[in-house]
Amino acid sequence: MIKSPRGTRDLLPPETALWNFVEAAVRDVFRAYNFHEIRTPIFESTELFARGVGEETDIVNKEMFENPPAELFTSYEGEVPDVIVRKAWLDQYGNRYTLVSQGLNEPFAVARRGDLTPSMMVFRYHMDACTLERMQTLERQQAELGLERLELTIAVPEWEEKEVRRLSPTVEVHSVKLPGWLDPRNAFTLRPENTAGIVRAYIEHKLWERGLNKFFSIGPMFRRERPQKGRYRQFYQIDAEVIGPPSSGSQSPVRDAEILELLATLLDRVGIANWTLVLNSVGCPADRAKFNEALREALAPVVDKMCVDCQRRAVTNPLRVFDCKVLADQPIIETLPTISQFLDEDCRMHYEQVKEILNAVAIPFVENPRLVRGLDYYQKTAFEFTHGALGAQNAILGGGRYDGLSEALGGPAAPGIGFAIGEDRLVLSLMEATPAEAVVRKPDVYIAPLGAGMNREAARLARELRRHDLVVELGDESFRPKKSIETADKMGSRYVLIVGGNEVAGDAFSLKHLASGEQVTVPRAELAQRISRK
Ligand code: HAM
Repeated sequence: MIKSPRGTRDLLPPETALWNFVEAAVRDVFRAYNFHEIRTPIFESTELFARGVGEETDIVNKEMFENPPAELFTSYEGEVPDVIVRKAWLDQYGNRYTLVSQGLNEPFAVARRGDLTPSMMVFRYHMDACTLERMQTLERQQAELGLERLELTIAVPEWEEKEVRRLSPTVEVHSVKLPGWLDPRNAFTLRPENTAGIVRAYIEHKLWERGLNKFFSIGPMFRRERPQKGRYRQFYQIDAEVIGPPSSGSQSPVRDAEILELLATLLDRVGIANWTLVLNSVGCPADRAKFNEALREALAPVVDKMCVDCQRRAVTNPLRVFDCKVLADQPIIETLPTISQFLDEDCRMHYEQVKEILNAVAIPFVENPRLVRGLDYYQKTAFEFTHGALGAQNAILGGGRYDGLSEALGGPAAPGIGFAIGEDRLVLSLMEATPAEAVVRKPDVYIAPLGAGMNREAARLARELRRHDLVVELGDESFRPKKSIETADKMGSRYVLIVGGNEVAGDAFSLKHLASGEQVTVPRAELAQRISRK
């Protein structure tokens, strides 16, 4: 038997009625707040997520469904310690490179030029200051491992050469003609989230010309996570984004508070009680730099007691240590400094104003200075809503401000804030109080044709009644009356309408109310009205 892929599931009736109920309610709420729907592709360039979400995040590092998949390149040759040789190729000068890295999403891949030249190439699609710093770390690590000191060179695709020279005029650069399979323009990923895609669309269509954009979207996302209750590899998000040029007021704390108040309204509206809004400010990049420095310092004496992921994060992006789920690491994480100690005046003011408005509109919240969220693009406000019914995966939604994301993707300044609700989790929480059966609309009437030639009469009647917004189910003339009644009963129909020769001749039909057993004869012209009466 062929089953659905691991971590995916079929949504079946009656549960789908709950999904429809949620989506209809959500669309109503979005309308009231002047949000409009945007639909973006469910796959995008791999590069979009690497640059947008951040290469050191779990999402990009471990969970992307990408094509070509990183696994495709695995072929261990064992010549470099602790890394996996992915693939070898020749550049336009006939030099042989061996790519050694965890995958295409890795911040960089190391390439060895030829087998005899003791030189090492750091290959990078996009060069930035952070990568340069990491190259130096790598060089140090090579020395620590006691390897022959390698001459470090940066290899970049031809189009990046100018940027590297600008960033570091002294570094040796080698521009590489990429083989097709390595060209990032050929690499696609099933979207793990939708903020990056929406900001890409904002830039591509110059949406700043419209002023402030308020978007929502509903659709599937994909993450290669270990499946469990509330965590799937294909899951659904209800996403909202407010983005525009600074002149449109997009960076105002009013927008943050509006988003949070909208969420409270939305959860109340769909019937989720007992949610908790958890709030923090993760500051701006300058605050983050100071915070990362402080974290590096705090981690230095303890990091060797932490998991390998944290050891790597401590070097590459210390903030991401807060994403660690390893139990044994938690006592160490508890002792680390928090970002709140590093907020500058502007960020602090912004945060205070958001909280003031929330208090004014009576939206309760709790603050958690360790909430940093698992995506790199956040600045200032970050938040999650949790719900008790969900157990370990208790974040029903998350979001925050991403004022620098447009620039990181090559666009103009476009402050923005948004959220994504995990729709699977929302429905799971809802099922606690509302069984799916309760929102399914059952048939109003089951039409039972009795005897040969009655199918066509029944079809005519069904067509008439359905025009009156009635839910009509149709039997078959081969069914005996008993079978028709049983079938109607099983599907929860309120009435059974008998269509036999006598009824057709008299243009009046036997209508049986299943709950009471009462049976009356109703002229054709009065049927719809009679059935509509509850
Ligand atoms: P996120 O926190 O990665 O944020 O995901 C948002 C929500 O999606 C989570 O709170 C959770 O309910 C749901 N979710 C995530 N992964 C899974 C999974 N594997 N299975 C089921 N549900 C899941 C974002 O995606 C950001 N784009 C939110 C955002 C929008 N920030 C600003 N704008």
